[in-house]
Amino acid sequence: MVEERPLLELVKVWKAYGDRWALKNVSLKLYPQEVLGVVGASGSGKSTLLRILYLQETAQGEYWLNIPGWEGCNLLSLSPYERPAARRHLAMVYQEAAQALRMGFAALTNVAEPLVLKGERRFEVLQKEAQAALERADFPLARAGDPPTFLSGGERQRVQIAKALAQEPTAILLDEPTTGLDLLVQATFLDTLRRLKRQLGMSLILVSHDLSVVRALADRIVVLHQGEVVEEGLADQVLEDPRHPFTQDLVAARL
Ligand SMILES: Nc1ncnc2c1ncn2[C@@H]1O[C@H](COP(=O)(O)OP(=O)(O)OP(=O)(O)O)[C@@H](O)[C@H]1O
Ligand SMILES: [Mg+2]
Repeated sequence: MVEERPLLELVKVWKAYGDRWALKNVSLKLYPQEVLGVVGASGSGKSTLLRILYLQETAQGEYWLNIPGWEGCNLLSLSPYERPAARRHLAMVYQEAAQALRMGFAALTNVAEPLVLKGERRFEVLQKEAQAALERADFPLARAGDPPTFLSGGERQRVQIAKALAQEPTAILLDEPTTGLDLLVQATFLDTLRRLKRQLGMSLILVSHDLSVVRALADRIVVLHQGEVVEEGLADQVLEDPRHPFTQDLVAARL
């Protein structure tokens, strides 16, 4: 896996808010069909990192997407007008469903939206494909007509996943997708992600402050501490033999 060309790559990325650095010299790679876990304490820069990857914010450095049409283009140099075209290849799943979903519209309508944006107009096709995406996300189809306001936290996250799948992105970025869910719901949601990775070969970047969430899914782990990558490696290696004192504390706290 490690010899392959990465799908997505950040090279020496710096991001400041005012006179404070939120990210310092961050480099990372996402390979095809892998889950990259990003773990770090509150304020370590995890959401900032995902916003940059989702092209919602600019930063200094390089960002490469190795897919046809985008090779050789540093995405951090794109103008605000050019960013949406690149962003279409990525999907974002948030802790708060309201950031991704229209809470008053049916789950099915939410999931059909990316298909409409791609130009699909046939009602039967939209319905069939949106239902298929909801099914892949293990969402109970009997609730497809309900708006997210009526759904549980776990069900809302499954609608977000279905919407992401309908978009057929190159990679899905997940920012604390299970935070706030009870442990059983969290575990079944992570089971769904694991199955999707296996069956569809999805590539994911999973951000969490919770090492046990990242541990459940990640092939490789990056540890962020005060805006810097202090450790990275294969998940087993990082978890079993953490090198940086911060990672050692994180692992010790979870064992
Ligand atoms: N829009 C902004 N303006 C100013 N400072 C910001 C902004 N967004 C983030 N920051 C700062 O950047 C740092 C990193 O924040 P970020 O939200 O990326 O952390 P995080 O790791 O996602 O934390 P959490 O686990 O609490 O979600 C923090 O110090 C935060 O206050
Ligand atoms: Mg965050």
